[in-house]
Amino acid sequence: MVDVARTAAQHFDEWAPRYDAQIREMVPRYEEIHETLIALLRLRPPERFLDLGAGTGYTLLRVLDAFPDATATGLDVSPEMLERARQRLAGLHERVELRQSDIAQPEISASYDAIVSVLAVHHLYPDQKRHLFSRIWEHIEPGGIFVIADYFEPAVARLSELYDLPDEPDPHEVEHDHPDTAADHLAWLIAAGFAAVDVVWKYDDVGVLVAWRAERPTP
Ligand SMILES: C[S@@+](CC[C@H](N)C(=O)[O-])C[C@H]1O[C@@H](n2cnc3c(N)ncnc32)[C@H](O)[C@@H]1O
Repeated sequence: MVDVARTAAQHFDEWAPRYDAQIREMVPRYEEIHETLIALLRLRPPERFLDLGAGTGYTLLRVLDAFPDATATGLDVSPEMLERARQRLAGLHERVELRQSDIAQPEISASYDAIVSVLAVHHLYPDQKRHLFSRIWEHIEPGGIFVIADYFEPAVARLSELYDLPDEPDPHEVEHDHPDTAADHLAWLIAAGFAAVDVVWKYDDVGVLVAWRAERPTP
């Protein structure tokens, strides 16, 4: 594992014990994000599902509950986050595989009907995001979707005022958070090969984007 990933793993390992108690305070619409994600997946119920930056496994739990025929894989750089996901998903262990992996250097071997990432892609730099999106396109079945629920940089500085964002981000954010605009993400998804992209839900600097891989052409 490269040093940046090791530092990230250490940071998220330290956060893991407090994560579940804090995330809903930090992202008050965390549930609404998941409702949106599940509604999107219902458009074409997935059989094989991948969660990038799965954290303590809440998204995996919601998806496995909503789609009883689905199996899932969750990747995360932090062993402590993964340990909590393992505990949360203990009753579903036959349907889920959890693996330590740096999504900046994605080790994705199978193909999936749907790939999601909730609040994790913003930890990558722009070049890493572009690389990840190309790898994801390669591993989504034709007609499948990639959903990114995340923080996005306001398109112009004035919007930070409207969103009531702090003037100075805290030092942890500067080191680990690298949000880009929603427009940048959409352009990179198109460049990666996705046939259609959209913003499905957005509130202040948090949003849910979706990208569709084209259906296989009929012969
Ligand atoms: C803010 S948490 C989100 C967790 C979970 N998806 C959720 O919605 O609650 C960010 C997660 O991304 C993981 N992460 C950060 N950088 C990563 C990387 N380069 N590769 C894999 N996982 C990463 C962290 O370990 C952490 O679990």
